[in-house]
Amino acid sequence: MPANPLAPSWLPLPDDANDLAREVWSHNAHRDDSGQLEIAGVAASAIVEQFGTPVFVLDEADARGRAAAIKASFDREFAAVGSSAKVYYAGKAFLSIQVARWMLDAGLNIDVCSGGELAVALAAGADPARLGLHGNNKSLAEIDRSVAVGIGAIVIDSLIEIERVADAASRHGRVQPVRLRINSGVHAHTHEFLATAREDQKFGIPLAEAAAAVAQIRSHASLSFLGLHSHIGSQIFESDGFAEAASRLFALHAELLEGGPVPELNLGGGFGIAYVAGETPLPVDEIAARFARIVASGAAKLGIPVPVVAIEPGRAIIGPSTATLYTVGTIKDVLVDGTATRKYVSIDGGMSDNVRPALYGADYTVRIANRASSAEPALIRLAGKHCESGDIVVHADYLPGDVTPGDIVAVPATGAYCWSLASNYNYLGRPPVVAVRDGVARVIVRGETEADLLSRDAGLEATP
Ligand SMILES: Cc1ncc(COP(=O)(O)O)c(C=O)c1O
Repeated sequence: MPANPLAPSWLPLPDDANDLAREVWSHNAHRDDSGQLEIAGVAASAIVEQFGTPVFVLDEADARGRAAAIKASFDREFAAVGSSAKVYYAGKAFLSIQVARWMLDAGLNIDVCSGGELAVALAAGADPARLGLHGNNKSLAEIDRSVAVGIGAIVIDSLIEIERVADAASRHGRVQPVRLRINSGVHAHTHEFLATAREDQKFGIPLAEAAAAVAQIRSHASLSFLGLHSHIGSQIFESDGFAEAASRLFALHAELLEGGPVPELNLGGGFGIAYVAGETPLPVDEIAARFARIVASGAAKLGIPVPVVAIEPGRAIIGPSTATLYTVGTIKDVLVDGTATRKYVSIDGGMSDNVRPALYGADYTVRIANRASSAEPALIRLAGKHCESGDIVVHADYLPGDVTPGDIVAVPATGAYCWSLASNYNYLGRPPVVAVRDGVARVIVRGETEADLLSRDAGLEATP
């Protein structure tokens, strides 16, 4: 059977459209003897029977395992160069009380970037000293609460924030540890990075203005300077962009040491994951080894001590842990340009539970979950149910051509930036998140019901 000419060049005709590419699925996902998808010992059909669709299914051991593996790799590699590493889990990728506890149990710290994320981490029982606060426009209330609870670090993003944090710290009688986010001019994505004199974006302070900003921080008795921070982008597969950013920051880091201590250097997150078969992000031990080499050689060149390095991965920890299950509703064969057919398979969710394809053209893959099939593969597009033609979850993949209404389909690698970016567009309730482990499924975030949606509408109480 020839490949469909509408298929993108990166998508080969599969030998088996039931195959679960190892790099894309969570560690405990496989097909059982009947051909059905099973995650951590729980069959897809059992999850759907209990929780309905759409549903996010989170492989708990996978997420905990990735968190522990990143920490172990960075601990090992930085010990080998005479220093240590601090790993923050970037809560923006997906945060719930359970997930926060798993991350803390694995020895990670947690990064939050709003009062809401802070509230979740605190509700999880996090020691505030293990939290960091980010954001280019933190409200005064967010700064105040963070300082009041004793947050471990605030990442200062603009000059005006230095005074705001210093004020809050003096009011609370605290000395607040702060980092300074630098706009390094390096932006990386997948295999490439772009280096400019100054990046045209909203985050951070330009390198050229950073020394003065640190002097301003150091002039406040209520602030203590932890070090510089840089985050160069997301879904990064190579280490060159990190090396470039680190070398830009290092010169400044060394210069700042002349005016006082600079114990840490934060190189941000952004480690990539596989979304479709054949993608090959760097394994975490390789990332850690390269980071340690980059930092150790940078320090040696400048004759300074190797700093403690902080990192903030989100996607690489939680992204691969989760798959979203949907039910197929309608199917249309659409003849394109009179030559080839694309099968539009429509599901009961879409851009309200996964906006990444619509937002930045992200690619995903999909498999039938409730059965395996020997039907010839057909090129499909997995479409959502929303009133937008751009409401697509999977732009292109092959599914067995007998895919039919009522089938359950699973989209893997939806753990990061899917639930956290979810909306109520078209008044769909946000789906539940169900953790699976050792054959047991339990809700860790309840799905929204129609009653939840109506409960926020003040119209019922208003006089007509
Ligand atoms: C400052 C900062 N740190 C860490 C992250 C986490 O990135 P990722 O989930 O790609 O690792 C982000 C993501 O946007 C970020 O903005």
